[in-house]
Amino acid sequence: MAERLKDKVALITGAAQGLGKEMAKLMIAEGAIVFISDINSTQLEATAEELSCSAILLDVTNSENWVKAIDQIKNDAGKLNILVNNAGIGNGGDIEATDLDTWRLVHNVNLDSVFLGSKHSLPLMRESGNGSIINVSSMSGIVASHNTSAYNSSKAAVRHLSKSIALHCAKSTNLVRCNSIHPVFTRTAMVQSMIDAAPERNIEEKLIQQIPIRKLAEPIDIANAAVFLASDESSFITGTELLIDGGLSAT
Ligand code: NAI
Repeated sequence: MAERLKDKVALITGAAQGLGKEMAKLMIAEGAIVFISDINSTQLEATAEELSCSAILLDVTNSENWVKAIDQIKNDAGKLNILVNNAGIGNGGDIEATDLDTWRLVHNVNLDSVFLGSKHSLPLMRESGNGSIINVSSMSGIVASHNTSAYNSSKAAVRHLSKSIALHCAKSTNLVRCNSIHPVFTRTAMVQSMIDAAPERNIEEKLIQQIPIRKLAEPIDIANAAVFLASDESSFITGTELLIDGGLSAT
C-alpha cells in the first residue's frame, strides 16, 4: 500500500460492519490511525479486535456522545484529520405509509448525525491543520423512489448540508474540506436484508437491472472513493458530490 493517509487520524461512524468497516480497513492499510465508532457495542468490539484499532461507543444522534468522542480522540491521538459520517439506517415506505415517528427517526440518524458530527469535530479538525469530512449520502439522495420517502429526503439533505459545511469551512485558513458520496446498491447487510426479506420477488435481479454496469457495488468500491476524498490527492475538491453508481445517474 502507498500510505496515502500516513500521519492522519480518522473517525468513522457506524463502522462496526458494512461500508464503515470496509473504509476503516482500507484507511488503516493506507497508514491512518483509525477510530471506529458505532451504537452496537458487541459488533464494535469484535471489529476493533479484528482490525486492531481503537473503538468508541457513539450514538450519532446524541450530542453528548459526540463531545466525549472528540475529547477522547484529542486526548489519545492529539488531532483529527478525517471524519466519515457513515452511520445510517434504511427505511422503506411511501409517504402515506410513513408515520411521523419513523420520519423523525430516519432524519435523526441519517441527517441530524451529520449536523452534530460535523459541528463537534470542526474545532479539532481546524486545530489539526486541515481535514476532510466525508458524508455518506446515497444515490437515493439524488434519484427518488416512490417507496423510500424518509430515506430519500434525509439523504438529499445530507448532500446539501455538505455543501453548506464546505462553504463555511472554505473561509478558514486551516482548510477542512467537506464532500458527500453517493453509493448505489452495495452488497452489505442493509441491502442483503432487503434481498432476503422477499426471495420470491427476486429483488437482487431487480436492483441489478437498474445499474448500467449490471452488478451491485461492493463495499471496497465505496471505500476506495472515501480514501481518495480523505487523502491529499483531493485537496482542491470540496463541496462536491461523488456518485458511485455504476452509471445509474447517466441514464
Ligand atoms: P449497515 O446497516 O451494514 O451498517 C450501518 C451501521 O450503522 C451499523 O453498524 C449500525 O449499528 C450503525 N448505526 C445505526 N444507527 C446508529 C446510531 N444511531 N449511531 C451509531 N451507529 C449507528 O449499513 P451500510 O450498508 O454499511 O450503510 C452505511 C451507510 O451507507 C449508511 O448511511 C447508508 O444509508 C449508506 N448507503 C448504503 C448503501 C448500500 O447499498 N448498502 C447505498 C447507499 C448509501
